[in-house]
Amino acid sequence: MDAIVYVSETGFTKKYAEMLSAELDVQAMTLKDAANKLSKGSEIIYMGWVSAGFIKGLSKAMRLYEVKAVGGVGMGRYTEKNQNNLVKQNKLADLPAFYLQGGFDMGKLRGFNKVAMKIMGKVVASSIKNGKESMMPKEQAEEMLDAIRHSKDYVSADKLQPMLERCKTL
Ligand SMILES: Cc1cc2nc3c(=O)[nH]c(=O)nc-3n(C[C@H](O)[C@H](O)[C@H](O)COP(=O)(O)O)c2cc1C
Repeated sequence: MDAIVYVSETGFTKKYAEMLSAELDVQAMTLKDAANKLSKGSEIIYMGWVSAGFIKGLSKAMRLYEVKAVGGVGMGRYTEKNQNNLVKQNKLADLPAFYLQGGFDMGKLRGFNKVAMKIMGKVVASSIKNGKESMMPKEQAEEMLDAIRHSKDYVSADKLQPMLERCKTL
């Protein structure tokens, strides 16, 4: 494995990439830095944050490098549904792919991303108020709203464990 390449907007994916890097003894770098440091076709593990279900930077990483495993970092907790959606929406059926819960930090967001998540907070709050569970179960909606309002860091070595074990076998 040549590198762990990642895209992280507010730092949670970076934390997971650095944890994986330390465990596997493989260098971690951003997708931007990889342009100068890695040659095309290098074997990589790719990690990116999840935006509206899509793993940021994944299609670029797939074009440039030989991606051997993928981690998608979102704010929601790990559920089978989140894992399956990640695989389906990002067309990852042929690769080891892992949904990881990162966190949320409004203070580090800028521009469109910040506006979008402020709106998302209002949508989630009103769905809880109106007792609607079409978007997600109430408990998960409350957790999401809590993260949007107060910022949360859910990153942990435990959550990375399944991905780490699989990556050791690559
Ligand atoms: C515009 C936007 C869209 C997002 N969409 C999702 C999503 O679809 N699913 C999810 O679980 N988290 C979503 N999030 C939350 C981020 O994926 C989460 O905060 C992640 O941990 C950020 O990782 P980073 O710190 O590496 O940037 C979204 C955040 C933003 C700003």
